[in-house]
Amino acid sequence: MGQHQNKQPETSKLQPSYLALVCGSPFAGGTCAQLSDQLQAAFEKSGTQVTRIDISSVHISPCIGCNRCAADGTCFMHDDADTVIDVLQHSSGLVIVSPVYFGGPPSQLKAMFDRFQPLFWSHKNGHLDKPCWLLAVGSGGDPYGHRALDICVASAISMLGYRLSHVQSCIHETVEESVQSFVHAGGLQFFN
Ligand SMILES: Cc1cc2nc3c(=O)[nH]c(=O)nc-3n(C[C@H](O)[C@H](O)[C@H](O)COP(=O)(O)O)c2cc1C
Repeated sequence: MGQHQNKQPETSKLQPSYLALVCGSPFAGGTCAQLSDQLQAAFEKSGTQVTRIDISSVHISPCIGCNRCAADGTCFMHDDADTVIDVLQHSSGLVIVSPVYFGGPPSQLKAMFDRFQPLFWSHKNGHLDKPCWLLAVGSGGDPYGHRALDICVASAISMLGYRLSHVQSCIHETVEESVQSFVHAGGLQFFN
């Protein structure tokens, strides 16, 4: 369990650590993928078990809002969303590396979030016991920031018992700079 100074984000209380790492870019091999590769390698080197989910390689149909899940809490569609939900339910921590698209998430990542809707109906609306860190990756030049991304992430992950406990802005940064900031903020120890 990592010890943190005052400036550091809250301390994780969960043991053992099974970390889900979501790379939210639809572009395989882009900045988010490179950053995720480096974070995954660093986590595994420090002994944290990582399950990686790449939005670029999963197949998730978008929610159509039919509300059939309101009846029994399940979706009529079956695809990689089932696996993603299973992984997130069995992980004790979550790191999301996402590009900023016009202030929000890419549509492919949003499609994944929207498929959490069946959990809304069974959600007990409390105990967000599990921590999530978000790394918002952008090339800059847009004056609107990434609040829409932060809100989408916080709202969707709460369906699975996660709270958004730390947001790292990686706007106009190199991959190396973003990794350094993550390590400096205590990210590796936090999920270990
Ligand atoms: C449709 C679209 C919208 C974008 N909007 C923003 C934005 O609002 N803010 C920003 O900083 N970068 C924006 N970008 C730039 C991407 O976030 C940036 O290139 C990021 O590194 C892409 O990550 P990737 O290479 O992993 O896909 C946008 C890119 C695209 C394709």
